[in-house]
Amino acid sequence: MEARTPPKQAASHKQLVELTILYQFSNTMLSTIRLNKLTHLILTALTSDSTRLFERAMLFLRNEKSGVLQGMLGVTRDTAGGLKVVGGKDALSSRWDIDDDAILHQRDSAFSKHVRATRIEASADCTIIRRVIHEHRLYALGEDDCPVCESCDFVRRLGIAAFAVAPLIARDKALGIIVVDNPSSNKEIGRDDLHFLQLIANQAGMAVENSMLYNRIEEAHSNLRDARERLVHGERLAAIGEMAANLAHELKNPLITIGGFAGRLVKGLPGTSREHHYADTIVKEIGRLERMLADILAFSRKPTICYSACDAGDILRDCFASCTTTLEDHCVSLATSFEDGPWPILGDAHQLKQVFLNLMLNACEAMPDGGSLHVTLKKVSLDKKCILVSIQDSGGGMPADMLPKIFTPFFTTKPHGTGLGLAIVNRILQNHGGSIKARNEGRGAVFTVTLPQVEAQ
Ligand SMILES: Nc1ncnc2c1ncn2[C@@H]1O[C@H](COP(=O)(O)OP(=O)(O)OP(=O)(O)O)[C@@H](O)[C@H]1O
Ligand SMILES: [Mg+2]
Repeated sequence: MEARTPPKQAASHKQLVELTILYQFSNTMLSTIRLNKLTHLILTALTSDSTRLFERAMLFLRNEKSGVLQGMLGVTRDTAGGLKVVGGKDALSSRWDIDDDAILHQRDSAFSKHVRATRIEASADCTIIRRVIHEHRLYALGEDDCPVCESCDFVRRLGIAAFAVAPLIARDKALGIIVVDNPSSNKEIGRDDLHFLQLIANQAGMAVENSMLYNRIEEAHSNLRDARERLVHGERLAAIGEMAANLAHELKNPLITIGGFAGRLVKGLPGTSREHHYADTIVKEIGRLERMLADILAFSRKPTICYSACDAGDILRDCFASCTTTLEDHCVSLATSFEDGPWPILGDAHQLKQVFLNLMLNACEAMPDGGSLHVTLKKVSLDKKCILVSIQDSGGGMPADMLPKIFTPFFTTKPHGTGLGLAIVNRILQNHGGSIKARNEGRGAVFTVTLPQVEAQ
């Protein structure tokens, strides 16, 4: 004879099983803060053989701004196999876990890929889902319950017939939804199942919210760390700059004296003697050191700008005149493309000339065996009217990883460079409300300078 369990005993056994599942789920939600792992654990718990609640479960998260629900993961009874109970047999302390291999297997399954490729427009798609999101309540749908289901993109795409949708709620906001169904057996989603789904979704909502908040804190923390590093770096640079300025100041006077005496020696010694050659070398090297010190002092000095109305075209033409011999020495041909002027800007013409001279000198130095320099001048409308000067050379350009560093003070690849030329250029342009960008193009580098245009006077 078959032994029968009395109905009362069977009911309390069922309650015990349900309670155990809920305890284990609750412990599981506290076991990780990683959003990815959480989503796998939630859906696996809903579909695995341990609970046998549903055959498939899908999770969609809602974009706060657009309201679009983006598919994140789909788990089926087949891919839910990796769920393990850890922490002993006691329901109060045990929980579920899933290892990285099982997570990968679930993520790469065809069904999950299908879910991830699904976006549900909050306003246009499934009316049921819209209600779940807005009314914050669970909905269950039989095959014939929804008049529009057949035409519903979401239902068609995922091969859904009868299904239930539960909102993921936290702090009175719908973060997303969990969709469950039983497509293989067509088993009806009963009241008990829905009750369970509701309880699990409630806990899952809080866990997902905590995880998202944690991620945001992590991101803010990382931004803060970056900002602090930039600040420390800036302070260090400022300290180096101050030290360099003091040193430059101290060195300047003795250098002038040495240069003066060496100059007198050059004049007094016969031009063919070795001593004349030595003295001449001293004069040239002193000249280079003086220019270097002048650069360092210019960089560390607080900017004093004498603004006046000037014309970018005039400044550039002035630069070309000053550069003639340098261009000839380097066998560099100059081509210009100026749109129709005038080019009214407000600024310090002397400092702006220094900007373009530095860029042209760098270009010449990049073409020791000759080449071409192309200077373009035009007006553009960005968020305001601007004047754009681009200086393009054929000197081979720069390695891509060097581009972000070239405006940093003291960055140089030249044996006798100070690495201050572009740092000074950048500083002057910033003081004029302008900017500079560098890129590789064609056979060399292009430096593009933008300056705000003013009304012609
Ligand atoms: N037109 C260019 N083509 C290729 N590389 C360039 C060009 N302009 C600048 N660079 C690179 O950027 C670096 C920094 O330039 P920057 O003008 O600041 O210093 P520098 O020319 O090395 O020294 P200084 O200007 O003090 O003589 C250069 O050393 C060079 O490697
Ligand atoms: Mg330079």
